[in-house]
Amino acid sequence: MAFKSIVVEIDDHVALIRLNRPDALNALNAALLTELGQALTEAEANEKVRCIVLTGSEKAFAAGADIKEMAEKTFVDVFSEDLFGPFNDTMLRIRKPIVAAVAGYALGGGCELAMMCDFIIAADTAKFGQPEINLGAVAGLGGTQRLTRFVGKSKSMEMHLTGRFMTAEEAERSGLVSRVVPAKKLMEETMAAAQKIAAKSALTVMAVKEAVNRSYETTLAEGLLHERRLFHALFATEDRREGMQAFLDKREAQFRDR
Ligand code: CAA
Repeated sequence: MAFKSIVVEIDDHVALIRLNRPDALNALNAALLTELGQALTEAEANEKVRCIVLTGSEKAFAAGADIKEMAEKTFVDVFSEDLFGPFNDTMLRIRKPIVAAVAGYALGGGCELAMMCDFIIAADTAKFGQPEINLGAVAGLGGTQRLTRFVGKSKSMEMHLTGRFMTAEEAERSGLVSRVVPAKKLMEETMAAAQKIAAKSALTVMAVKEAVNRSYETTLAEGLLHERRLFHALFATEDRREGMQAFLDKREAQFRDR
C-alpha cells in the first residue's frame, strides 16, 4: 500500500522502512505511527521478508514524538486514546528481527523507537537523548525503562533529568548501540547485517529473538530454563540437523525454515 510518512522497499528478503517527514525531522505523529505499524505488520506477514531495517534520514532518525500535534492535548485526550500504547503493542508483536540504522538525532520517542528495535547500528553522526524534561514531560514510549536497562541507572537518570544528548561513541561505550560506523557506510553496513540474518533459519532467528527478549522479563533461573527448552526444541527442526551436518561436511548450510 502507498504510505505518506514512510517509504518501504523490499529487496532480497529485507524490508527497508525509512521514516520520511523531512520537514519535521521525522517527528512521530499519529499518521506516521499508524503507517509504521501497518508496514511492520505487513512485513511480518510477508513470507519474502526475513529481516526488517528501520531508518530515518542523514539528519534525523526521529526527533521525537510530534510536539506540535501533542501541545494542545489534555489528559483526557491522551489517556482515552492510550497515546503510544497501541504502537508499543504492535512493535512487541513483531517476531521477525528489526535492525535500527540511526544517523543524526534520535531523541525522545526517536531514541525510544530505536531501542524498541532488536539492535541499533549508529552512524558516527548519531545523537541520542531523552529531552522530554525540557518540555515539562516524561518519556512515554519506554525511555525510562529501556534506556535504564541498556546503560544503567546512573547514565539513564542523568540523560532523563538533564535532557543532554549522547554521542554515538558514548552510546556504543555504554551499550546502547551494537556498533558505530562512518555515516557514509551506515546503510551498507546495516543492510549487510540484515542480509546475514536473512540467510539464517527463520525458525532459529525467531527463537533467538524470543530468548534474548525474555531476559528482560524474567529472573535468571527462569530465563535460563526458557533458553534451554528452546535449545532442546530446536532439535525437532530439520534446520538444526542441517546446520550441524553442514559443519561436519565443511559446507554452507542450506536452511529451509523447517
Ligand atoms: N515535533 C515536531 N516538530 C519537530 C520536532 C518534534 N519533536 N523536532 C523538530 N521538529 C521540527 C521543528 O519544529 C522544525 O519545524 P519548523 O521549521 O516548521 O519550525 C523542523 O522540525 C526543524 O527543526 P529545528 O529547526 O528545530 O532544527 P534544528 O537543527 O535547529 O534542531 C533539534 C534540531 C535539536 C532536534 C530540535 O528540533 C529539537 O530539539 N527537537 C525536539 C526534540 C524533542 O524535544 N524531542 C522529544 C519530543 S517528546 C517525546 O518524544 C515524548 C515521548 O517520549 C514519546
